[in-house]
Amino acid sequence: MAEPKMMEGKVVVVTGAGRGIGAAIAKLAAQKGAKVIVNDIGVGLDGAGGDQTPAQEVVNEIKKAGGEAAPSYDSVSDFTSAGKIIQCAMDNFGRVDAVVNNAGILRDVIFHKMSESDWDSVVNVMLKGAFNTARHAADHFRKQESGAFVHMTSTSGLIGGMGQANYGAAKLGMVALSKAIAVDMSRFNVRSNCIAPVAWTRMTASIPAKDPATAARIEQRKQVTPEHNAPLAVYLISDAAKGVNAQVFATRKNEIFLMSQSRPLRSVHRADGWTPERCAEHMYPALKTGFYNPVERTADVFSWDSI
Ligand SMILES: NC(=O)c1ccc[n+]([C@@H]2O[C@H](COP(=O)([O-])OP(=O)(O)OC[C@H]3O[C@@H](n4cnc5c(N)ncnc54)[C@H](O)[C@@H]3O)[C@@H](O)[C@H]2O)c1
Repeated sequence: MAEPKMMEGKVVVVTGAGRGIGAAIAKLAAQKGAKVIVNDIGVGLDGAGGDQTPAQEVVNEIKKAGGEAAPSYDSVSDFTSAGKIIQCAMDNFGRVDAVVNNAGILRDVIFHKMSESDWDSVVNVMLKGAFNTARHAADHFRKQESGAFVHMTSTSGLIGGMGQANYGAAKLGMVALSKAIAVDMSRFNVRSNCIAPVAWTRMTASIPAKDPATAARIEQRKQVTPEHNAPLAVYLISDAAKGVNAQVFATRKNEIFLMSQSRPLRSVHRADGWTPERCAEHMYPALKTGFYNPVERTADVFSWDSI
């Protein structure tokens, strides 16, 4: 008798699954036995437009390969609409076991030229979108006393990226959201983890090769596919990852990193208390060797494939 598949019996929602990394996660989850809701509104990279074709095509591919899937064309960025995505899992497959918050858009603009709408649109899809789907799924997860979330974050938030104040803030916000869900819902056996992925998709194809070093790293990035990111995501939403909660991972082709989380690095104490002058005279020399480079970006931290 064949071994049961890792995701057999699970119903998984993957947002932004019509393309790129989300499509790879949806297909691998289905291949491992999950029933998958392929959610995607089929927008342009900046969030404009809309097209049902990408989600439908991924569903067709999954079905052709013998898997089970249904499309969902509702946006994550509106609370009511995100509720329909989770309801779509209930209507089609009667339950929901995992949500992968992967939908994303990009509106890179240097901070001093960023508009309110550049900020709102990116934060609404990624940070608010992750809250929206997670909050609707939480009602089911609580009742059934099980569930798993994976949120796709980015080193743009964890470390830094140029022209990405909206994107980086949303992505680091997703890390805090994931931790908060883990803290609040582990009592219901609900787990929540993050992945900072890397892949050559239309999202990264939009990054200009401003200088030879960036051009060289873009060539490296082209070797990294959406599929390189899917195994970790599928593992994290499976029961095999039972004890894995509130962690932040990064993927980079065939490497998987466990990322650090913020903890005190060092401290300095004065029994007589502090004044601004004492901060300058005493705190600064005591702590400055622990300071991070204030303008460090992903490319300064990862030695290859960082754009
Ligand atoms: N590609 C990378 O190297 C990289 C690096 C770091 C983080 N990420 C993150 O990984 C995720 C996937 O990125 P990708 O490169 O596959 O991008 P992609 O542009 O190929 O796919 C994103 C999908 O999300 C969909 N989408 C956008 N807004 C939506 C909404 N409101 N509701 C539902 N769907 C929506 C789009 O239609 C698109 O199909 C994103 O969250 C992205 O920020 C990607």
